[in-house]
Amino acid sequence: MKIFKKTSNPMFWLTNAKYFQGLTLICVLLFQVNIYGQKKEKTCIECHKRTIKKEILHGPASDCISCHKPNGKKHPVEDIESFTYLEEGADLCFSCHDEEKDAIIKNKYVHKPVAKGECSECHEIHSSNDPKFIFAKAPDLCYFCHDEIEKIIEESTLVHSPATDEDGCIGCHSPHSSSRKKLLISGGRELCLSCHDKTITVDDRKITNIGKLLEDSKFVHEALEKSCNACHDPHASNNKFLMTTSYPTGNYAKGTEENYEMCFECHDADLLLEERTKYATEFRDGDRNLHFLHVNKEKGRTCNNCHSLHGSSREHLIPETVKFGKWNMPLVFKNYEDGGSCKGCHKEKRYTR
Ligand code: HEC
Ligand code: HEC
Ligand code: HEC
Ligand code: HEC
Ligand code: HEC
Ligand code: HEC
Ligand code: HEC
Ligand code: HEC
Ligand code: HEC
Ligand code: HEC
Ligand code: HEC
Repeated sequence: MKIFKKTSNPMFWLTNAKYFQGLTLICVLLFQVNIYGQKKEKTCIECHKRTIKKEILHGPASDCISCHKPNGKKHPVEDIESFTYLEEGADLCFSCHDEEKDAIIKNKYVHKPVAKGECSECHEIHSSNDPKFIFAKAPDLCYFCHDEIEKIIEESTLVHSPATDEDGCIGCHSPHSSSRKKLLISGGRELCLSCHDKTITVDDRKITNIGKLLEDSKFVHEALEKSCNACHDPHASNNKFLMTTSYPTGNYAKGTEENYEMCFECHDADLLLEERTKYATEFRDGDRNLHFLHVNKEKGRTCNNCHSLHGSSREHLIPETVKFGKWNMPLVFKNYEDGGSCKGCHKEKRYTR
């Protein structure tokens, strides 16, 4: 009561101004502590600096709750599971990337990690130094899971350079999905001809323009109809010319079945092995097998002497010239209904079935 009386008297305030000032100061101080306390409540980024540390931010990255949904638990005190995702797996990504959805997963062949919704196996989610938010460029990105391919490439004597170039793997394979087997980005031989439609020079060597060769060929080897992989490994090989299996490419080699494994994956080896035959080959004089005669010996003449493996302007894939070192020997071949004849290594010799 006393105090009330006193404070209701204006003189009280004037005479006790110094106490009043002190009280105000305390109030202001208390108020400031309160503000300070609120400032202390950190934002997501203050505690999780690492998430947005890298150069390029993923579009929504700074808006954490566009993907992480609080579930009511106090964060991070109670336990760390105070957030769930707005959607699970790939659905989370497609909730914004709906335009890309079809291109990424609506194909016949879907890359396993994509099908399982494991986008973050390859993509960084919050920030990245790569504009496509991938952890590393191919081939390293791919080797992370495909050590079998890395091993083949490391252990082979001949490596196809696009396989190890930066982004090389995705020059032939889609990282997500494809309408074609093995996630290939284009079909059969078109994939290869996208580069092999010109002469490629490596060191001093000129690699044949296969695209042009095929354009100029009246007869194309049917082995190429499906793709080039029947004979070449697209990644690496221990055989010359990236051959999948053994095949001698010089002018002479021992005429055994093993040496010509590549051809006999599709053709019957009897065309080479039967000395006398009426069925195994059309290259015969009566029943004398001329494949056997030319090829089947210690220093046999290889198939290359008479066949151009990709295509030719002549029947039976017979080339117009045969390479002997630097010399291109003209080979004159005539095709008859019951046989043929050749002039080149020898005077014209004819065979008749
Ligand atoms: C006061 C610091 C702090 C703040 C503020 C904070 N976090 Fe955390 N957060 C942590 C700690 C500590 C962990 C547990 C360790 C870790 O995983 O980094 C954690 C874990 C997480 C995890 C992982 C949970 C899991 O299941 O693995 C997510 C997601 C997360 N925080 C999101 C957020 C979001 C979103 C915000 C803002 C709304 C936020 N945090 C604010 C400290 C904080
Ligand atoms: C585009 C959706 C998205 C946004 C936006 C997002 N996150 Fe995440 N976050 C994820 C996904 C998905 C994972 C799980 C990643 C994984 O599987 O490796 C994750 C994991 C985490 C983790 C645990 C693993 C880690 O990387 O440390 C933390 C912490 C986290 N996020 C915090 C945040 C914070 C903080 C923000 C805002 C700055 C944020 N997130 C924004 C999708 C998102
Ligand atoms: C909340 C919306 C949202 C979610 C969810 C989201 N993104 Fe994004 N994402 C964006 C935006 C916005 C951009 C920036 C687009 C631009 O720059 O044109 C982007 C860009 C990207 C890019 C680069 C795109 C390009 O064309 O260069 C990739 C890759 C990507 N996001 C992957 C993912 C993945 C993987 C997930 C799922 C973990 C995901 N995003 C989830 C909104 C989202
Ligand atoms: C095996 C690794 C891998 C997985 C898994 C993966 N991506 Fe990608 N993603 C890539 C690569 C590599 C690129 C860059 C492609 C390029 O540069 O042409 C890319 C690019 C993208 C882009 C940019 C647009 C484009 O096509 O170039 C988006 C969006 C994207 N990915 C979303 C996703 C989503 C969503 C998932 C999960 C459903 C996913 N990715 C899973 C490797 C992957
Ligand atoms: C996160 C792991 C992972 C990464 C990273 C990855 N892959 Fe795969 N990939 C797989 C799995 C799992 C399979 C399925 C293997 C199986 O079924 O035997 C597969 C299969 C494949 C196939 C064969 C598909 C088929 O139809 O047989 C190709 C081609 C392929 N991956 C290419 C790539 C390329 C190119 C990259 C890099 C851009 C890459 N992968 C990165 C996990 C991965
Ligand atoms: C010049 C094109 C080309 C390049 C570059 C390339 N590939 Fe391939 N890859 C192919 C073709 C073609 C096939 C299918 C071979 C077959 O069916 O015989 C294939 C098959 C595969 C397979 C499936 C293997 C199997 O036995 O089923 C995987 C995995 C693969 N490639 C991964 C990679 C990786 C990783 C890289 C990068 C280091 C890469 N490829 C680079 C063309 C390429
Ligand atoms: C991205 C361009 C590119 C694509 C696609 C490509 N190649 Fe090549 N290829 C090259 C280059 C460059 C060389 C030169 C030698 C090297 O660098 O490996 C070459 C060399 C070759 C050689 C000769 C190797 C030697 O040293 O004698 C063969 C055989 C070959 N490629 C087959 C193929 C086949 C089969 C395909 C399709 C599966 C293919 N290439 C697709 C670029 C390509
Ligand atoms: C029937 C097996 C076979 C098929 C199928 C095949 N090749 Fe070849 N390729 C060979 C042989 C054998 C050589 C070795 C040199 C020669 O005889 O021309 C070779 C050599 C090459 C060379 C190296 C040429 C040089 O001058 O160094 C390239 C490049 C090449 N092939 C690309 C292709 C492409 C592209 C395709 C698909 C359009 C293909 N090959 C299909 C058997 C084949
Ligand atoms: C992927 C399967 C395949 C492989 C490997 C293959 N070929 Fe063929 N080849 C065929 C087919 C199919 C034909 C057309 C049908 C026929 O004449 O037998 C053909 C036709 C030919 C012809 C033309 C026949 C004619 O009378 O017109 C010759 C020559 C030939 N192959 C030689 C070879 C040689 C040499 C090899 C080994 C370097 C080889 N082929 C490897 C599938 C193959
Ligand atoms: C001395 C030349 C010569 C050599 C070497 C040669 N061929 Fe032939 N080949 C021919 C002629 C000529 C024909 C066409 C026969 C006919 O139909 O009149 C032929 C036909 C073929 C055919 C069609 C089927 C058949 O037998 O009639 C195949 C397949 C074939 N050769 C594969 C090979 C293979 C594989 C090699 C190496 C192991 C080889 N050739 C070596 C000249 C040769
Ligand atoms: C690389 C050199 C070479 C080429 C190319 C060649 N031949 Fe021969 N040919 C020979 C030799 C050498 C003989 C003798 C027999 C032997 O010593 O093997 C022979 C023998 C023959 C004989 C048997 C003659 C006899 O009376 O004994 C005939 C028939 C024949 N060749 C036809 C052909 C035809 C047809 C072609 C073209 C498709 C051809 N040759 C291409 C080297 C060649």
